[in-house]
Amino acid sequence: MGNQVRHLLSAADLSGEEISFLLDTASALKRKPQPLLKGKHLALLFEKPSLRTRVSFEIGIHHLGGTAMSLNANEVGLGEREAIRDVSRVLARYVDIVAVRTFGQAIVEEYAEFSSIPVINALTNEEHPCQALADILTLKEKWGDLRGRSIAFVGDGNNVAASLILTAASLGMDTRMAAPKGYGLPEWLVSEASARAASSGGKLTLVTDPRAAIRGAEAVYTDVWTSMGQEREAERRRIDFAGFQLNSDLMSGAALGAFVMHDLPAHRGEEITDEVIESPGSIIFDQAENRVWAQAAAVAFLLGVAHQVER
Ligand code: CP
Repeated sequence: MGNQVRHLLSAADLSGEEISFLLDTASALKRKPQPLLKGKHLALLFEKPSLRTRVSFEIGIHHLGGTAMSLNANEVGLGEREAIRDVSRVLARYVDIVAVRTFGQAIVEEYAEFSSIPVINALTNEEHPCQALADILTLKEKWGDLRGRSIAFVGDGNNVAASLILTAASLGMDTRMAAPKGYGLPEWLVSEASARAASSGGKLTLVTDPRAAIRGAEAVYTDVWTSMGQEREAERRRIDFAGFQLNSDLMSGAALGAFVMHDLPAHRGEEITDEVIESPGSIIFDQAENRVWAQAAAVAFLLGVAHQVER
């Protein structure tokens, strides 16, 4: 069904320049919401639970004068009640843009292949690009220029890590990650992030020792050890991730005043302690807030109206 519609399925779908433009757009919209999406409609399809993604998309679209509706797995039955390609083509007759939260990346790719309107990945097992945009927007608000600033992700090489590493590496950041052996990022993503770091003037460091990744880092990020759908592996993962808990001891190796980041929901007391979540450096709830503006900017960008934003 080849068409020229832009989708956001992976953080790798955006160049470094486009990410910077999106971040500027998000900041401008946050300062001054503008009715760019009047008459535009967003549908959100959820095959997994959500708090932040659903509410932040709906509110973000509302801030820009558009409307949003959320549909859950039971209502749509993507690929079960109805073929993915049929759902995709039907929704495109009703709305202007769709965000899909589902399981494998192949599902959202198939959905997009048959879509004549933009499709946004609202989380798959492999990526979470909307989260990464909000995370980096949050750091940009704190630091201004992101180039050369250091961020260390400590934990599972999951969807959140994948999109974050791609995005940070695209922007010239000193990007580090520590995961236990066997829990690292996929090979293609490491190659892509390395290439992006090389061309943006950034750095990519992948290690298995969390202390090595965190040493002197200005922001430290973690996420759950067991993601949605991996619940049967939880016990094994608790053993394999021993030493990766983001606690005061581990944080003591970071730069003075380093920021603490987590995409939420957190398993308090597992990958991160209460003390660290509640510490002065924690910007976790700023990240959650910025989902609204990062996604609003992404929608405006994909619908071709982001250049109309007053900056
Ligand atoms: N971080 C995130 O995507 O949160 P939800 O799963 O609640 O949407």
